[in-house]
Amino acid sequence: MYRIVLLPGDGIGPEIMAVAEEVLTTIGAKFHLTFECQTALVGGAAIDATGQPLPPKTLELCQQSDAVLLAAVGGEKWDSLPSHLRPEQALLGLRSGLNLFANVRPAKILPQLIDASTLKREVVEGVDIMVIRELTGGIYFGQPKGIFTDSHGVRRGVNTMAYLEQEIDRIARVGFETARKRRSRLCSVDKSNVLEVSQLWRERVTTIGQDYPDVTLSHMYVDNCAMQLVRNPKQFDVILTGNLFGDILSDEAAMLTGSIGMLPSASLGEPGKPGVFEPVHGSAPDIAGQDLANPIAQVLSVAMMLRYGLNQPQAATTIESAVSRVLDQGLRTGDIMSPGCERVGCRAMGEAIVAALHQS
Ligand code: IPM
Ligand code: MG
Repeated sequence: MYRIVLLPGDGIGPEIMAVAEEVLTTIGAKFHLTFECQTALVGGAAIDATGQPLPPKTLELCQQSDAVLLAAVGGEKWDSLPSHLRPEQALLGLRSGLNLFANVRPAKILPQLIDASTLKREVVEGVDIMVIRELTGGIYFGQPKGIFTDSHGVRRGVNTMAYLEQEIDRIARVGFETARKRRSRLCSVDKSNVLEVSQLWRERVTTIGQDYPDVTLSHMYVDNCAMQLVRNPKQFDVILTGNLFGDILSDEAAMLTGSIGMLPSASLGEPGKPGVFEPVHGSAPDIAGQDLANPIAQVLSVAMMLRYGLNQPQAATTIESAVSRVLDQGLRTGDIMSPGCERVGCRAMGEAIVAALHQS
């Protein structure tokens, strides 16, 4: 029996989470797995109900679970709140509260969707990149941080990009282990031509690399990497990088695949502790409640939860194949629509995936 916490959050969150729940129930029945799901408040929904983006009750529930499935948080309604009360704080609170130091973001192009990419077919065909982003350190969490006023009344905004050796070492190991299970190439991305924190990063990654002689390690500056990702994305297998660079590069990598509505992600802590599994996309408040959302990233997040969080790789693969078959049938939500396909809403897409699961 697995205890799963569901965090639907805001915007399209509840709609895509409803699809994910159906998928979870169906796959559970198929593989004789029992999921005890509990839904909890997070983000704007939690702010409205309790005044806090991540109520302590939600965090506790997550800490006691086997895995957390999150949809999305945020929306215009809460944008003017002070930063410590914004919905996004819930994500940061979950990351630090569950010690989720490793963010795993695949960007793999599905053959059915090549034409949805803004890049040329020959550039993106076959792209299969895994971005490993450090998630609990770097400039997101470094001290000092804040907006300070000096004795002359001049204000100064400060954030600090800092990494402990140990923080670099543990994420580097995740990177090398991941590369080992794929095509054995790891590209570590930093800004060591300018930043000392990156010089330490490069040194530690190189040192840890000595334990992985079977993995080919390369280093790249982040600005060059941003360019290479659109110039020739097929050169990459695993990209390993820090928190801020990973935030930016994972969005860029996601867009190579045509729709950010397709991509799941995993945030993992120490082995045996609960991870958080969520789509890469946000809460899309502009289309919320209209049955227009693409639930596929959320469904593929269930697959990632099964593979990386619950060690049920077969169940994960079954979900991924079901999604692929539905795309083969020509069903598309608006964001991935192309000529000759059938446009469906969130619910219909979900029903088609569940039907494909029943048939597998
Ligand atoms: C992401 C998001 C978050 C981040 C925000 C919403 C806090 O952009 O998960 O990539 O910056 O990490
Ligand atoms: Mg981001």
